This record gives sequence, structure tokens and C-alpha cells, in this order.
Amino acid sequence: MDHFEYRHGALYAEDVAVADIAAAVGTPFYCYSTATLERHYRAFAGALDGVPYTIAFAVKSNSNVAVLRSLSDLGSGADVVSEGELRQALAAGIDPAKIVFSGVGKTAAEMAFALDSKVGQFNVESRSELLALDKVAQAKDMRASIAIRINPDVDAGTHDKISTGRAHDKFGIAWGEARHVYREAAAMDGIEVVGIAVHIGSQITGLGPFEAAFTAVAGAVADLAADGHDIRRIDLGGGLGVPYSGEAPPSPDDYGDLAKRIVGGLGCELVIEPGRAIAANAGILVTQVVHQKTADGHRIVVVDVGMNDFARPAMYDALHDIVPVIEADDGTAEPADVVGPVCETSDRFRLDYPLGPVNTGDLLAIRSAGAYGSVMASNYNSRLLVPEVMVKGDAFAVVRPRQTYDDLLAQTVLPPWLGD
Ligand code: LLP
Repeated sequence: MDHFEYRHGALYAEDVAVADIAAAVGTPFYCYSTATLERHYRAFAGALDGVPYTIAFAVKSNSNVAVLRSLSDLGSGADVVSEGELRQALAAGIDPAKIVFSGVGKTAAEMAFALDSKVGQFNVESRSELLALDKVAQAKDMRASIAIRINPDVDAGTHDKISTGRAHDKFGIAWGEARHVYREAAAMDGIEVVGIAVHIGSQITGLGPFEAAFTAVAGAVADLAADGHDIRRIDLGGGLGVPYSGEAPPSPDDYGDLAKRIVGGLGCELVIEPGRAIAANAGILVTQVVHQKTADGHRIVVVDVGMNDFARPAMYDALHDIVPVIEADDGTAEPADVVGPVCETSDRFRLDYPLGPVNTGDLLAIRSAGAYGSVMASNYNSRLLVPEVMVKGDAFAVVRPRQTYDDLLAQTVLPPWLGD
């Protein structure tokens, strides 16, 4: 459930009319609901009640510092994959002890920064990374707390591009190899083994793949105990899906019950890294109709938001619902292709989508855009990054301003031979 609802035919974000925000900020813009973020965070917290846990919000899904601060205020940690995300998490006030540093490509410089920041856990994804981390930590006379991310060879049953737990995927270390890497790690002066991690993919809509992955982890924990390791933390990753357009994913409670049943009795702290399930339905992307046309009998509605602003439909064929900000009094929904202004055919949000009559200037909202929305935006077609707005009750604030053309051109540097 989210807090974007109609009141007398007008879409509201909590107690703020979305049209009022559009009038103040212009379009397009992302709009986040604090109450929805909090509700989703609390759903996970409730689901893990009864075991020691940390919810490490996946910053890659939404790195807006106001979003991170809202979650931090509830006790959230963070899962970060770059120095940039780590800096954002720290800027939001997230306790470094609750920060997990994930990712296959951490550089020595990033490791050094993370060590200096006292992050709670590095999730190591290769032997090569382990050796590098040991070296960086030893040079600082420090010890890096690590979990090794195992690759359980589980197909998450989701889109190929966001599946991460199959044997051939680039993520994690196969268990057979990981067991040896743990032995090496235990002997390193710069490393302290504290846990095990897994993450099999994103937008997972059934419990089966989680059950397989968690079961693999439980088996690995038993083997590690037999090998003499003191495993204190089990990081189950993220991945729980959301209902974008009719999907019916398991609830956080179902997910938490499964986790507790399989790994809750092993005497370890559980870490989870949800991103989408907290942020997706806490955000909408508001746009306005720019033009309408027909092509080969097709109704085409051109909006002012493009694939550079919101890449999910183009990248993953994702289906997001699109709703009017002011419901039409009359007129039936007719199929329309809702497309953006970017010069690519892939710049389209929905095809043959039932949409009521619209006019130039009418506002539409793309739903469930709070995760993997603004974070994936680019300046393609030299379009300005769109602002982010946060709502709380009857208040709203711009939490990242719209980029300006001055910002865009400030990045321009001519070489000396081309003059001023
Ligand atoms: N932990 C790790 C190590 C991850 O790689 C991810 C997501 C998460 C947690 C959070 O997963 P979530 O709970 O959000 O499913 N851009 C794509 C999604 C990429 C997900 C990458 N990893 C999309 O828009 O669908």
C-alpha cells in the first residue's frame, strides 16, 4: 500500500495535491512519500521481529539523501556499492556500523575510504578482492570485517538483466571455492571474518528462489562452523519484488517468516538489503503531455519525461502504471502509446495502454518510480536531470533541485587548441 490516492478526482501524495507540486516545481519531477517509505521500512522491521537484525537499505535503488535520512531516522543501515553511495549514506547520518559495502569492483581507494569510515562489513565477491582488501587494511594497521558473498547457483526467476545468483553470473563465489577462500581469509592479518552473504537478484515475485538461496546459506554456515569460523552475521541480500502492474509478490512478513525459519535459529544477526520493496511504491514520476499524434492508426501521447529520466521501461521492458493527476470527468479510456521525447524508439513507457482523453499540458503520473528511477537518470539528449520532491503529511520540499542549463554547460571544457 502507498500514500498516493485520489481525493475528489485529484491525485494526492499524502495530504498534498500533486498538481500543486507541479505548479510550484514544473515537470517532470520525482515525488516521494515519507509515510510510504516509513510504512515499508516498518513492514520489514516487523517481519524480522524476534531475531537480531539490521535492515541495510540498498542505496542503489534511491540515493537521495533526504530519503536516506528518513530511513536512517527509523534505524536503517545501508547497502552501498561505491564510494559515492557510501558518502551519501554517511551524509544522511546512517551509522557506519550498519553499512555493508557490496559490489564486485571495489577499488583500493574505495576500500581505504570505507575502512576510514568504519563501515561495518565488506561483502567480498572474489579472492582477488580479498587479497586487495587485506593489503589495504594492513597498510592502515586495520582489520576489515568481511562476509563472503556466495553464489548459490539459484535462478531467481526474474528478468535476465537483474538475476545475480546463477553459477555463470559475475556475482559472488561458488560455495566449493568460497570455503577455501574463507580459510585463507581467517589467516590474514587485515581481515576479520564475521559473516556470509547472498543476493540472487531483484524483483523476485515468489518465495521459492529465496528458500533455495537461504537453504544454501544455512548449509554453508554449518560447514563454516565445522571449519572453525565464527560466523555472526548472515546477510540475505535484497530482491523482494513489488506489484508494478498486477504482480503479486510475497509480503515482507512471508519473506521474514521464511528467513527466520531457515536461518533464524543459527544464532546469527540477520542482515537484509531491500531496496525496491521499500522505495519503489513510495515514488511517482510526474510528467505532462506535450503533444499527441497518430501513427499508422495508433494513438501516441508524447510526454515530457524520457528514457534518460526513467530508464526501466527501456532497459527491462518494465511495465509501470500511468495515471492521470486529475481524473477526467468523462470519456472512455482508449489505447495509447505513451512515449517520451528522446530520439530512440525505446523511449516509450507503455504501448496500447488504456488512457482517458488527455490534452496538451495535462499531468500524468508514472507509478512505482521511487526505486531505480532518479538514480539511473542521465543527461542523454542533453536533457536536464529532473528534480526530486519529498512529501510529509501536508508539507513538501524539493530535495534535489532541477539541473540547470548552466550546470550542464559548466561541464564543458575546450582543449587549448580550440580557443575560448
Ligand atoms: N543487495 C545487492 C547486493 C544488490 O545487488 C541489490 C540490487 C540489492 C541488494 C537490492 O535489491 P532490491 O531489493 O532492490 O531488489 N536497476 C534494476 C535493478 C537492479 C538491482 C541491482 N541489485 C531495475 O530497475 O530493475
